[in-house]
Amino acid sequence: MLASLTFPRIIGHRGAAGAAPENTLESLREAKRQGAAWVEFDAKLTRDNHIILLHDDLLDRTTSGKGPAAEATFAAIRALDAGAWFGPAFAGAKVPTLEETVRELLALGINCNVEIKPCPGRERETAERVMRALQRLWPADAVKPLVSSFAYSSLQVAYQMAPEFPRAVLVEEVPAGWRDLCEGVEAVALNPWHEPLTPDQARAIKSAGYRAYSYTVNETARARTLFDWGVDGVFTDAPGKLIAALGA
Ligand code: G3P
Ligand code: MG
Repeated sequence: MLASLTFPRIIGHRGAAGAAPENTLESLREAKRQGAAWVEFDAKLTRDNHIILLHDDLLDRTTSGKGPAAEATFAAIRALDAGAWFGPAFAGAKVPTLEETVRELLALGINCNVEIKPCPGRERETAERVMRALQRLWPADAVKPLVSSFAYSSLQVAYQMAPEFPRAVLVEEVPAGWRDLCEGVEAVALNPWHEPLTPDQARAIKSAGYRAYSYTVNETARARTLFDWGVDGVFTDAPGKLIAALGA
C-alpha cells in the first residue's frame, strides 16, 4: 500500500489556518492558493448526525456560537459565523459539511487528511459516518485521503469498515506501545506532535516501515530539522512559506 501513496511533505493544517479561518472552505481555497497539494481538517458530528468541520468540542472559539457542538443541530451551527472571529474579510464564512468539503477539494484538485475528531463518547459513530461518507463521495479511481485520529476506537472502526482508506495513528508523545497501535489498525503512518519528538523516535518509526507526519510546524528551520530526522511531512498553518523555503 505504501508504494501507492503520494503524500506531499507540506500539508495545510485545517486548510491554511494562519491565513484564513480554520476548517472553512475559505481556508481550503487559501491552502490551494499557497500551493498545498494536501490539506488536513477535523471532522465531527452535530447533534443530528451531520458531519461538519470543527476542531474544538465547543463552538465558542471559532464561531459566533457557544456551547458543545454535539448539542447543537446542523441548522443552528450553519446559521453561525465561522469567519468573523479571524478577521472582517472572512465575515459570513460558514461551518462546512464533509460533503461540501470533499466536493470543494475535488474541484480544487487537492487531496486531504481527514482527522476524525469525535466529540467525547461519539468515537465509533463518528468514524462510521465519516467512512461511509468518504466511501460514497470519494472517486474510486482517485488517490484516497489519509484518515487519522487520536481516538483509537475511531481508527478501529475505520479499519473494519473501510480498510481501503489508509490510516495514521495520531499521538502527542510517542508512546512505548506505538508499534502495537499501528499494527492493530494496519496504519501506514504514525503522526506525532513535533515538540516532544526525538530523532531516535523518528528513526525508529521509519526503520519499522511507517511514515511519520508531524504537527503543527510553522517554522522553516524546525521543518528542516524534522526532515533531516526522516520525518516524511509536516502539517503547517503556513504551507506557502514552507513550500517556498523547502519545496512541496
Ligand atoms: O492531524 C494533525 C493535527 O491536526 C493534530 O492536532 O489538535 O490540530 O487537530 P490538532
Ligand atoms: Mg487536526
